Amino acid sequence: MNVLVFASRKGGSGKSTLAAHLAAYIHKPTRPCLLVDADPQGSLTLWQALRRTGEPPLKAGTRGIAEIVKQAKQDGTEWVLIDTPPNMSAAVTDAIRCATLVVVPTRPSVFDIDAVKERSGLGDAFEYPVSAYSQGMCARLGFAVAEELEPRVLLLDEVHEALDHEFRAIVQERARTLIGTGGVVVATGHDHPLLEQLCDRAIYLDNGTVAADGPFRDVQRAYLEDVRTGTHH
Ligand SMILES: Nc1ncnc2c1ncn2[C@@H]1O[C@H](COP(=O)(O)OP(=O)(O)OP(=O)(O)O)[C@@H](O)[C@H]1O
Ligand SMILES: [Mg+2]
Repeated sequence: MNVLVFASRKGGSGKSTLAAHLAAYIHKPTRPCLLVDADPQGSLTLWQALRRTGEPPLKAGTRGIAEIVKQAKQDGTEWVLIDTPPNMSAAVTDAIRCATLVVVPTRPSVFDIDAVKERSGLGDAFEYPVSAYSQGMCARLGFAVAEELEPRVLLLDEVHEALDHEFRAIVQERARTLIGTGGVVVATGHDHPLLEQLCDRAIYLDNGTVAADGPFRDVQRAYLEDVRTGTHH
């Protein structure tokens, strides 16, 4: 069972909105979802009443959150989404203890948006609707947003494949800076020369299991050998 907790000490950062939208999207008869309103303001309790559909099911309460989660599991609920008040009360810490993932929404300021615009290098095209973005533009935007959060762990999921050469160089330089300051970069993809430049350790996954783990060259050899002999899935 997945337990998502939306928490942030800042009021108005978007906790309730995100919890409500995700719960409405997730909840299906084949994928039962429970929304827990642990905020005494009761925003989601009101939201659910206004929907008049009784769905997604909701439980309100600032106490006994662990019990609510336990009961949901027994009832076969697959997803529990918990909205919390903007403080660090017992309700919030209790919810966080039950969480498989804690989501901390933040509201970007105009300065953050300006910094992302500049970092993305999209220029005037930044203003286009994201639905009109090409794959490469989406990758640029995603990377610029991730960078703005100054992560210590950067996940690059085949982003290189979508990027033009100019931005590839920028991503590589940023990744090296992060590694140089003790951060971690996890990159996935099939561009071996590029991955080799970036990574000092490689993991070869075959059908979801680790087939090899070690220095890049050794793992690459094992992979290419499997491809050659047809043992790769
Ligand atoms: N992604 C978003 N984009 C634009 N507006 C948003 C977004 N998410 C939330 N809002 C708006 O921001 C306001 C505050 O959102 P919300 O009530 O979800 O925040 P909250 O973190 O739950 O606040 P509180 O801490 O008071 O419970 C609402 O008016 C909501 O419509
Ligand atoms: Mg709220």
